[in-house]
Amino acid sequence: MGDSMHTKPASAQSSLLVELPSIIERLDPQNLFPRPQPLEVELGCGDASFIAEYARLQPEKNFIGVERLLGRIAKLDRKGRRLGLTNLRGVRIESSYFLEWLLPPRSVSALHIYFPDPWPKKKHRRHRLINERFPALARKVLLPDGIIFLRTDDADYFAQMREVFGADKSFHLVETPKELAELTTDFERDFNAQGIATRHAAYQLKPAA
Ligand SMILES: C[S@@+](CC[C@H](N)C(=O)[O-])C[C@H]1O[C@@H](n2cnc3c(N)ncnc32)[C@H](O)[C@@H]1O
Repeated sequence: MGDSMHTKPASAQSSLLVELPSIIERLDPQNLFPRPQPLEVELGCGDASFIAEYARLQPEKNFIGVERLLGRIAKLDRKGRRLGLTNLRGVRIESSYFLEWLLPPRSVSALHIYFPDPWPKKKHRRHRLINERFPALARKVLLPDGIIFLRTDDADYFAQMREVFGADKSFHLVETPKELAELTTDFERDFNAQGIATRHAAYQLKPAA
């Protein structure tokens, strides 16, 4: 890994999608925004229904949505520009690669992962984003006191999330703030409409982690 990439700050008019000049050099996330502010990242942001609204409500923070599907990340761009957001950017890339290779260590105050693909079949579970390796990736990019917020409709995946974060002694379980829990995602609204239960958990880095 070399020095940070040089990227232009966003204006309300230009695309909110980050064109990565290289995928082997780390980003300087604060270069992506007009103002240096605390950074929060959503992994697998889908159509950006959550992150665009959250960024609108929290102009004092910067946000990056990560999504691998072009059609979905294009919606982040459209929504963010329609709202005139300068504190939101989108990156089309695989989430764990983004954490491991593109974000600088200790650069993120919160990670949001909402309804990641559950891969319900046993033989496919190795594709899950949150696995035994994941807490170490999250720990590396989070600032001291950084938090990871999780939601899923899948009981087995929720148990796995609780297990892997419970086993990492640098994190402890905390409450999800009510105003955050009330801000639903696109998939969550579908699940709610169908009466499917959803589960929340949040883990914070302990001070000495
Ligand atoms: C079930 S959807 C949930 C979308 C959104 N978080 C919501 O709750 O409405 C999962 C999203 O994560 C994206 N995704 C899945 N695995 C990913 C990965 N490894 N890296 C980046 N995006 C991923 C999918 O393309 C999809 O848009």
